[in-house]
This record gives sequence, structure tokens and C-alpha cells, in this order.
Amino acid sequence: ASGCKIGPSILNSDLASLGAECLRMLDSGADYLHLDAPCSSGRSVFWIFLTQGSNPGLSALQADALTSEPPGKAQHFVPNITFGHPVVESLRKQLGQDPFFDMHMMVSRPEQWVKPMAVAGANQYTFHLEATDNPGALIKDIRENGMKVGLAIKPGTSVEYLAPWANQIDMALVMTVEPGFGGQKFMEDMMPKVHWLRTQFPSLDIEVDGGVGPDTIHKCAEAGANMIVSGSAIMRSEDPRSVINLLRNVCSE
Ligand code: DX5
Ligand code: ZN
Repeated sequence: ASGCKIGPSILNSDLASLGAECLRMLDSGADYLHLDAPCSSGRSVFWIFLTQGSNPGLSALQADALTSEPPGKAQHFVPNITFGHPVVESLRKQLGQDPFFDMHMMVSRPEQWVKPMAVAGANQYTFHLEATDNPGALIKDIRENGMKVGLAIKPGTSVEYLAPWANQIDMALVMTVEPGFGGQKFMEDMMPKVHWLRTQFPSLDIEVDGGVGPDTIHKCAEAGANMIVSGSAIMRSEDPRSVINLLRNVCSE
């Protein structure tokens, strides 16, 4: 896709130095920041169980947390917690008005954080289709709060569920790992979703998130993704600028 944008995910960075890490990414040429905000917010009705397969990037504890939560018991949309709107507000103050914040809201009941995130300085509110009963109302509320709308689907969710909303959103996020942790293995079998969306909605921004790096960017580009989230591949590199450039170049070919 032409004009691909690269958004580093800071989930795998040193969260105690979040501001500095975001600055490092922006200085390295990041087009936007993908901020993963999983937090505790009530009962997840739509917890989807999938086996993780081989995930060498995960500790046993993380892999277990992703698959072992019983239905109805899940208090979090994902088995992890990072930060919420107070931290986003601080980041906005430190980084200034320019950087684009794509909030990946891995939360149950995403309705409750729209206003706080808007006030804190988020630019885009990306919520999970599986986490709400009323996507239409939520989309409207996000817009009324002055943010762009991103709609995410987990690997187990068929893209047909997203399609009815595609004309009302700015961006579709096709998860290429089970959300919750950085450093997992890219799920290539999600690419048909991206390709289908690209064919049906030529001007829609399509984001991929999870396991994307120099080894997997070709598949994403081929399928038609144009917003590329990459966490560990960029964060763990000694030369993040060259990784970001490589991803952008391959994707824009
Ligand atoms: C997964 C998060 C991703 C993650 C990506 O739950 O949504 O944004 O941080 O990290 P990598 O690129 O390491 O898979
Ligand atoms: Zn994410």
C-alpha cells in the first residue's frame, strides 16, 4: 500500500520510562504511537478462547493467562494491565500536540473511557468489537468526543462482523496475535481478513498488530495493510530508525 504509516507499540518498552521511550520512537521516525491500554473494567462477556499454538515469545505464565481464563470469570478483556488515561495525559504534556496517539483499548466496556481518553489527549480510540453490545452508539460517542474511530477484531472473530461498521470508522484493526502481550508469533492466517477488507473498502485504513517486523511485513503489505504496528521488532532493535524505515519502505512498495 502506498503511504504506509508505522506505529511502534510501547507495550514491550520500559514502562517506567514511557515518556523517554515514546520520544525515542518519535526521534527514530515513528509516524504515530500505538498505545496499548488494557485495564480492569468489569466483566468480559465476549472472552474468546483460542489455543495459542507455539508462541516462543511468551513465558509459560503469559501463555497460560491467555488461554486459561474461564468464561464469565474474566475481569479484564486481556490478562494484562498497562496504564490508563492519567498516563496518556502526562504523555501528551511531555510530547506536545503533534504526535498521533492511537489508543488500543483492550478493555471490557470500552464505553466508559471515551471521554477520559479524549480529555487526556488521545487522537484515535480503537476498541474491540467483542467488548461492546452497541458498536454504533460507541462510534458516535467517540466522534462526538473529537477522536477518530478504530475498530479491532481478535483473531477468532470473523471479518464479516466488522464489515457492517466499515463505512462509519476510520480504521479497522486486524489483530495478528491474541491481544494481551507483545512478542508473540505473527498469525499469517489473518491475512485473508486484511485482503478482503482492502478489496471491499479501498480507502479504509487497515492496521495490523502483533508479531509484525522485518520478517512478516511483506505479508501485511501484500494483503493491503497500511497502518503497521510493531512492538518488540522495533523496541528491541539497536537501530529502531532502520527498522522503522525498512517496514515503511517494504510496505509502501
Ligand atoms: C498485543 C498488543 C500489541 C503488541 C505488539 O496485545 O496489542 O500492540 O504490543 O507487540 P509485538 O509487535 O511485539 O507483537
Ligand atoms: Zn496493540
